[in-house]
Amino acid sequence: MDAKTGANIKIAKLTLGDKSWSFPIYDGTVGPSVMDVSKLYAETGIFTYDPGFTSTGSCESKITYIDGDAGVLLYRGYPIEDLAEHGDFLETCYLLLYGELPTAAQKENFDDRVTHHTMGHEQMMRFFQGFRRDAHPMAVMTGCVGALSAFYHDSTDITDPTQRMVASIRMIAKSPTLAAMAYKYSIGQPFVYPKNDLDYASNFLRMCFAVPCEEYKPNPVLARAMDRIFTLHADHEQNASTSTVRLAGSTGANPFACIAAGIACLWGPAHGGANEAALKMLGEIGSVDRIPEYVKRAKDPNDSFRLMGFGHRVYKHYDPRAKIMQKTCHEVLNELGVNDPLLDVALELERIALHDDYFIEKRLYPNVDFYSGITLRAMGFPTAMFTVLFAVARTVGWIAQWKEMIEDPHQKLGRPRQLYTGSPRREYQPISRRK
Ligand code: SDX
Repeated sequence: MDAKTGANIKIAKLTLGDKSWSFPIYDGTVGPSVMDVSKLYAETGIFTYDPGFTSTGSCESKITYIDGDAGVLLYRGYPIEDLAEHGDFLETCYLLLYGELPTAAQKENFDDRVTHHTMGHEQMMRFFQGFRRDAHPMAVMTGCVGALSAFYHDSTDITDPTQRMVASIRMIAKSPTLAAMAYKYSIGQPFVYPKNDLDYASNFLRMCFAVPCEEYKPNPVLARAMDRIFTLHADHEQNASTSTVRLAGSTGANPFACIAAGIACLWGPAHGGANEAALKMLGEIGSVDRIPEYVKRAKDPNDSFRLMGFGHRVYKHYDPRAKIMQKTCHEVLNELGVNDPLLDVALELERIALHDDYFIEKRLYPNVDFYSGITLRAMGFPTAMFTVLFAVARTVGWIAQWKEMIEDPHQKLGRPRQLYTGSPRREYQPISRRK
């Protein structure tokens, strides 16, 4: 860490009985400082204990910064609001991968490289045939992305920077193609090949919704909305799936296998699966007059029901992505002339929750998943595809964080320890003597 070499390193003291130890404190560019406890066990014989890693920094990173209290999200220092408003998703991909916004020439070159990697290996088509048509598309994505290393051996040597970048471009380029294939396979329609004269989001919409029987012209408003949704979901610091990718990558596993691990982790309803769960919840509530009943359940400590799309481990204020997602939701519904009663439920649920003492006290606000489901359903995606779209967008974040870890000279194999509360050593009893 650059701060490690700083002259004015602060020290934290730990006292246990008559012994005390010192641990260095490092300051980041912005945000909380960290206490380096990497030598704690060697010096004290005790571990830290932090289930869920609520107070643990797992790495040093320069990619994404979140201020949960202020509702701030920066990709390489640029506010998400500016990137979503003024740039496009591939510009954000370039920024996350290279650390700087591209010049016009760099952007043209990057777009061209991604565009010319969007086709999948033709034999991948047969891979899909092994799945049932009703397989959840996240299961298909996990399997297919993990299988990419079987097709692209020439970009699995993680020690070769050129291969690392080729694998990164391939993942960003092929993720939408595989996602569209998973969707087409689930509805029994033929796969649609990418077209190089379309931008990233338009290409994806066409691969999902075009059929051989007629021309498909992507709606520019929907394509812009899709592109912005990808930007909003591109990266998010050390969330559960990114931490999974980093942990898998720390063993030296190939990048495709690491991204597949990230997809599997994202699937959970507490994480990326929340967009699917949030729409299902809104559907279950059904109408504005039933909201109080569900708010009551969400507040009941004896009821496991939670308002999906609400709350966040880091954001204790409004998720900045949710605001942009809400605006995009209105744009899409207006463009399509859709009047979705679930949007009225969502808006009223948000209004009630933001004025309810329970949610205020626990600092629970809508997160990125709260409005995305309504938007994606209006665009024609089935609920089961929502988390797949999240995975398409997050692929660049996972791969950028994976690259940063591989290129970090201080990176080590990730291997946490534990507090063991099981049985102490005991003698083996032959079965004849067990009662
Ligand atoms: C994503 O980490 C990331 O960056 C993730 C993500 C990304 O871009 O990668 O932002 C994407 O995953 C967004 C989050 C999507 N998940 C959901 O919307 C699922 C619903 N939300 C919750 O499950 C919950 O808010 C979590 C899991 C997101 C965060 O929970 P924490 O930080 O572990 O907090 P907690 O579970 O300890 O909750 C604190 C309190 C608890 O009450 P007490 O035990 O203190 O009495 O708040 C309550 C919880 O019961 N609470 C909720 C609630 N979320 C938390 N009560 C009702 N509804 C909710 N949604």
